[in-house]
Amino acid sequence: MTKRIIVAIDGPAGAGKSTLAKRVAARLSFIYIDTGAMYRAVALWARRTGVEWNDLQSLEQLAREAVIRLEHDGRVLLNGEDVSAAIREPEISQGASIVSAVSGVRRALVAKQQEMGEIHSAVMEGRDIGTVVFPNAEVKVFLDATPEVRAQRRVADLQGRGLPADFDEVLREMKQRDERDSTRPDSPLRQAPDATYLDSSHMDAGQVEEALLRIVRERTSNG
Ligand code: DC
Repeated sequence: MTKRIIVAIDGPAGAGKSTLAKRVAARLSFIYIDTGAMYRAVALWARRTGVEWNDLQSLEQLAREAVIRLEHDGRVLLNGEDVSAAIREPEISQGASIVSAVSGVRRALVAKQQEMGEIHSAVMEGRDIGTVVFPNAEVKVFLDATPEVRAQRRVADLQGRGLPADFDEVLREMKQRDERDSTRPDSPLRQAPDATYLDSSHMDAGQVEEALLRIVRERTSNG
């Protein structure tokens, strides 16, 4: 049997993690795990059930009870319902950033993520994959880009899905989210010491994909 391999991709919002993770997972025939979608699903459930962002106990309970499925076709199911579009609303982006600072929520979701990556080789993206979820991952990259490039990509993405998007507002919200994600006490966004830093500001998706595949080959060929 070949060894199970984890490719961990961490970095700020809009750096291109999802595009990269999906492409590399398809090339390697690994499963793709979008951990941000899980925090988003918990935020959506809280919103819908009227749980306040500062009700830490109820948020943790929701995170424990949520049945979150990440389908092979990219759909996200929360308790059996397709919430793929709803979790991408800007309000839920902010909500996800808030609930992801709650230690109990993180504990519950990290346990689910570790279970998902236990059996199958996976490309997993998030903020703490190489530092907390799979600190022994065979491959770790920290994918970054300037805030302006990341905001521009997010605007294009929102517009592509027919949602309104204002560059200045997106940039402001993104910086707010960066600040919250990297200053929270529990598992702040940071590069693992053994992760490779990749700046995608001036690279297209194909170039970033090739760069990561090279790293995967280097890290796994002698293993
Ligand atoms: O990657 P994303 O924008 O879908 O993530 C949504 C929020 O969840 C983001 O503010 C950071 C948080 N997150 C996290 O704290 N840890 C992860 N592993 C993934 C996402």
